[in-house]
Amino acid sequence: MTEAAFADGLFESGTAPIERPVFTAPAVDTTSAPDPGSTPVIDLSEVTKTYSTGAVEVTAVRGISLRIEQGEYVAIMGPSGSGKSTLMHIIGCLDVLTTGSYFLTGLDVAAMDQIELAEIRNRHIGFVFQQFNLLPSLSAWRNVELPMIYAGVGRDQRRKRAIGALERVGLGDRVNHRPGELSGGQQQRVAVARALVTEPALILADEPTGNLDSTATADLLMLFDELHEQGRSIVLITHEQEVAARARRTVRVRDGLLADASGRLAGFGVPA
Ligand SMILES: Nc1ncnc2c1ncn2[C@@H]1O[C@H](COP(=O)(O)OP(=O)(O)OP(=O)(O)O)[C@@H](O)[C@H]1O
Ligand SMILES: [Mg+2]
Repeated sequence: MTEAAFADGLFESGTAPIERPVFTAPAVDTTSAPDPGSTPVIDLSEVTKTYSTGAVEVTAVRGISLRIEQGEYVAIMGPSGSGKSTLMHIIGCLDVLTTGSYFLTGLDVAAMDQIELAEIRNRHIGFVFQQFNLLPSLSAWRNVELPMIYAGVGRDQRRKRAIGALERVGLGDRVNHRPGELSGGQQQRVAVARALVTEPALILADEPTGNLDSTATADLLMLFDELHEQGRSIVLITHEQEVAARARRTVRVRDGLLADASGRLAGFGVPA
């Protein structure tokens, strides 16, 4: 996916906010600890995902059931090609499941169309990716304001909140720098500021430290610790054991299925 297409997909970037249906999502309490009695932030049941590329079909997710409570910090690990990013795309409403059900903060995602999915992404989810996915021609604060353009926030508010988010990630003195003028660690912090600026309940991160050195990794993990302490739910894909160790729970994916700690596959699944 190109950067511009990616940004469009995430934020429906454009200058004029478009009329969207308003969802009556249950309020997400981002201040309390995980409460198994409340609506889970993520509730996947027997989810499968099959990609059709020409004559070839690949079932990347073969029957995953997973419940993540509000305020949880969960790491997803597993071999390359096991379906982690596919799972995260489904969780993040960037792609739709083939069969099964998915409720995000109690909302039935499988029943939504593309416009509704874009609204849900913008309202509930902040994304952080390995490649940062910043627009190279825009300054740091212009990158951070993107999700607010889609959300219909006014210009002055956008600038104020973008700069506030950059200050929060320690980049108050870099707001006018473009991505190419920032280090990798700083670029990833801009991406975190962009993920945070709409105050989403859920942060999804796909190998966020994959392109960072050990110092930048430590900084980013501290930032995630803070976000978790503030009550946000975090789901993070990683290949690194020490990164996963910061999460409170690790979920393992193998061959499109969840595996338990011993590596056994859970559920029946559908053939790969
Ligand atoms: N858009 C797509 N079209 C067709 N097949 C795809 C698509 N995306 C992923 N796949 C296939 O689905 C399987 C799972 O891919 P996925 O990207 O989810 O793996 P992953 O666990 O994230 O791997 P990695 O650790 O290398 O990032 C792979 O076999 C991949 O080739
Ligand atoms: Mg991946």
